[in-house]
Amino acid sequence: MTVNHIVIGGGTGFIGTALVNAFKQRGFCPIIISRMPGPFRMSWHDLERDGLPKNTTAVVNVAGQNILDPTQRWTPGFKQNIWNSRVETTKLLARAVTACPPKVFVTISGVAYYPPDEKEYNEESICNKYDFLSELCHEWEDAAKLPKDLNVRQAIIRSGVVLGRTGGMIKQIFIPFYVGLGGPIGSGKQPMPWIHIDDIANIFVNVVENDNVSGIFNGVAPQVVTNKEFTDAFASALWRPAKIPVPEFALALAFNRERAKIMTEGQKVIPKRVLESGFKYKYPTIDLACNDIAKW
Ligand SMILES: NC(=O)c1ccc[n+]([C@@H]2O[C@H](COP(=O)([O-])OP(=O)(O)OC[C@H]3O[C@@H](n4cnc5c(N)ncnc54)[C@H](OP(=O)(O)O)[C@@H]3O)[C@@H](O)[C@H]2O)c1
Repeated sequence: MTVNHIVIGGGTGFIGTALVNAFKQRGFCPIIISRMPGPFRMSWHDLERDGLPKNTTAVVNVAGQNILDPTQRWTPGFKQNIWNSRVETTKLLARAVTACPPKVFVTISGVAYYPPDEKEYNEESICNKYDFLSELCHEWEDAAKLPKDLNVRQAIIRSGVVLGRTGGMIKQIFIPFYVGLGGPIGSGKQPMPWIHIDDIANIFVNVVENDNVSGIFNGVAPQVVTNKEFTDAFASALWRPAKIPVPEFALALAFNRERAKIMTEGQKVIPKRVLESGFKYKYPTIDLACNDIAKW
């Protein structure tokens, strides 16, 4: 029997771990690319030197230094790390895929591709770069481009805020909300494109396994909510009040305005192509997602 190897860049992270588990359940044998050695792992240097392991049928990249790491100042050096950990890792994988083509190549990007305004965006919306994070999304997606004549199916998943207990935003806000100190960010009126961790993992699985899908997919839930609506849903799932707003200027002071935008601004993003592909969400509404995440 041939083993289906899937190579996952960033497979040690919050989203990566969910992908590793989801793909194992589907019978794949995941190999993680990480900066730290370990079983079933390879380094970025190994990839550059030796290329993809034999029998690799799928390659996925979800690597990327945490943009909202509160211990890191928003310096040119940190911004370079943010950039390289996404763009350069994706370029390396695209080169390895070109040299030894698997069946499918799937990479992540972000909804910062779309400008934060009143419009609704779907995967067919073409947008220009408008700030650092949108430039990053464009370059990240360009880095994944493969030669036109290469017979590899390719997809890019533009993810919204991923909600799950073990990482991302929820890990940072869980304790304040649990002790009743949660609240909306600024006015709370900004849209917050979101998705449950199980659903983003299943979208990757669906894209890898379904030979008929390729291109851009918005990794967001079908229900568009504002930051205030999310705050209310999460607080009520925890049976806590959430009346203490986080002022925008405090976030700008702590994080720098350029990266605080991830929290203070948002886009209305519709997963049109995900729905058209027949994908069924386990958590289509914010109440279902928050009730799951709030469970002990
Ligand atoms: N979480 C979200 O809400 C969300 C939303 C949209 C997009 N995304 C994107 O999805 C990706 C994964 O997010 P996550 O929440 O799973 O992040 P995470 O938990 O912080 O994991 C990040 C992963 O990237 C790797 N990494 C970190 N810094 C790196 C560097 N300098 N060079 C190479 N690899 C590096 C880490 O691998 P090692 O430490 O093992 O090397 C780790 O596995 C990121 O690119 C992020 O921008 C996340």
